[in-house]
Amino acid sequence: MKAVNVRARLTARRVAAATLGLLVILVGTVWAAGGTALSQQAVEKAETMFRTTCATCHGSDGEGDGPASFGLRTQPQDYSDTAWQASVTDKEIMEAILFGGKAVGLGADMRPNPVLKKQPEVLAALAQMVRSFGGLKPDHGELVATAAQVVKEAKPAKNMSKSRRSGK
Ligand code: HEC
Repeated sequence: MKAVNVRARLTARRVAAATLGLLVILVGTVWAAGGTALSQQAVEKAETMFRTTCATCHGSDGEGDGPASFGLRTQPQDYSDTAWQASVTDKEIMEAILFGGKAVGLGADMRPNPVLKKQPEVLAALAQMVRSFGGLKPDHGELVATAAQVVKEAKPAKNMSKSRRSGK
């Protein structure tokens, strides 16, 4: 009788310890991601989209040298270029992706991706990928907030200056 009691108490204590451990891991994960995290699902969708679509022009490492880039009128930007990274805002990056090059004053070879209008998180994750090619790690919460704003725009201002264009 006594032995059973001790075992039961031990089990209860183990369950409590395990629960606490899990809680610490959970809180730690959210904290490390900086509040709002991009969902794993959105990140995976963006990675697939980049690999299957964007990389044909932008290159798998974002250096602007994808197999389809050579026949274009304007060469895609090399995203590892830190000067370029500093010259452009997250919002401008997202507007170019969503509305296409022509809408933001860049070349029409960069086509619009209206399918992202209903997937702001994927748009945010794509912008994060563009940044990561330049070694940058933007705050997830800010990216998600900017993407939510961009998908609500009817159309962007022509805010990409010609000096940002590459491939001359
Ligand atoms: C058919 C080729 C092609 C595809 C596919 C393509 N792009 Fe582009 N993209 C371009 C070109 C060319 C430019 C540069 C236009 C200019 O400078 O006038 C550009 C511009 C951009 C820009 C604006 C900043 C800059 O100067 O590079 C972003 C951001 C961007 N692309 C992201 C993406 C993402 C993300 C995808 C996939 C969803 C994608 N692109 C698919 C060709 C492409």
